[in-house]
Amino acid sequence: MFDYKSYKDVDLKGKKILMRVDINSNIDIENNRIRESPRIHALIPSLEELKDSAVVVMAHQSRPGAKDFTSLELHAEEIRKLLDRPVKYVDDVFGEKAINAIKDLNVGEVLVLNNVRTWELETKQFKDFSEAEELEMIQTLAPLFDYFIADAFGAAHRAQPSIIGWPTLLAGPTTVKEFKYMSKIIENPEKPMVMLIGGAKAIDKFKAMKFNFENEKLDYALCSGLTAILIMEAIGIETGEPNKAAIAKDLEKAKEDIKETYEKFKEKIILPKDLIIDDNGNRKAINIDELKKYNAVTGDIGPKTTEDFKSIIIKAKTIIANGPPGIFEKEVFRKGTFDMVEAMAEAAKTGGALAVIGGGEMGTAAEMSGYAKDVSFISTGGGALLEILSGKDVPMVRALREKKP
Ligand code: 3PG
Repeated sequence: MFDYKSYKDVDLKGKKILMRVDINSNIDIENNRIRESPRIHALIPSLEELKDSAVVVMAHQSRPGAKDFTSLELHAEEIRKLLDRPVKYVDDVFGEKAINAIKDLNVGEVLVLNNVRTWELETKQFKDFSEAEELEMIQTLAPLFDYFIADAFGAAHRAQPSIIGWPTLLAGPTTVKEFKYMSKIIENPEKPMVMLIGGAKAIDKFKAMKFNFENEKLDYALCSGLTAILIMEAIGIETGEPNKAAIAKDLEKAKEDIKETYEKFKEKIILPKDLIIDDNGNRKAINIDELKKYNAVTGDIGPKTTEDFKSIIIKAKTIIANGPPGIFEKEVFRKGTFDMVEAMAEAAKTGGALAVIGGGEMGTAAEMSGYAKDVSFISTGGGALLEILSGKDVPMVRALREKKP
């Protein structure tokens, strides 16, 4: 179903390559460090495969204005620790410093450029690819390279210049691997198929769930995080003001659609029975009908919900997790997320299930839990994976099809 030319189809030996990757990571701002980053870990074998080329790495971190909108210096340091080759960094994207560093780069070396989103046009979407091709960054950098590799699977749903603007595109190692797993899930998923949905971006996750129910792919959606709050509020379960505030905009836009979808698929949409609040540093489980009374932020799934979710995961044959069930960065809200990763690992190990963890956040949680090695695959895609699983022809996939060298 994916139509592309891969990095293996051409001879990259001795060539200068620009590789757009996604190493957008969970950053511990207070301690100026990157938390476990499956996206960086996925990049290492890709760079190892390209050891006979001079590779320039282009990537983004977060979005302008956000707290974790940082330079890529920490990322370069992390890559340097893990890769057995010279890794340089330049705090520039396509200015003179970057151009000189690219020209000076030798075969066998890696150069990481600064956060591409420091260039303001990078956050714009270009449906018309030829318009992006005319932009200054593309025009300046393109003549310096022999090949352009699309390996930012996690940002495949963004029609941003660095993803779709290059004159030609080859699928990189991470992309090829991701396509293999996506094809398996889309074309022939073994049933029962379960989605474990958590984290933020509630409306996108709701839409992916709905699409997969309507196409009779999905057997169960285990809902937690903001998606659960969104559905509960839409069907009249009050979750307390702090929770409701987090989904208010989505609720206003999509309430009727959510209600209808829930009505249609309620046997298959599993909502939490209990959630956790922070009670002076202790986990306090409260039942759903008490949420309004406590009027507090809920940060994790409770023990009854965990048991419900586990009993379904363990019997599933295809499991896709997207977004963590809890705010796992905080110790008090960690358990539910780690328990889910453990259940997925168990389903893969003993039940032979295809257990795929999606999204930067859930991937980080999986690595922190210690069970990451036992799940089938940690995808670097969050939103991108959801859109592809929802049948969308996302920009990077389209660009790979249209820009084969
Ligand atoms: C992600 O983390 O989902 C990707 O890196 C894309 O980031 P974005 O949603 O800021 O475009």
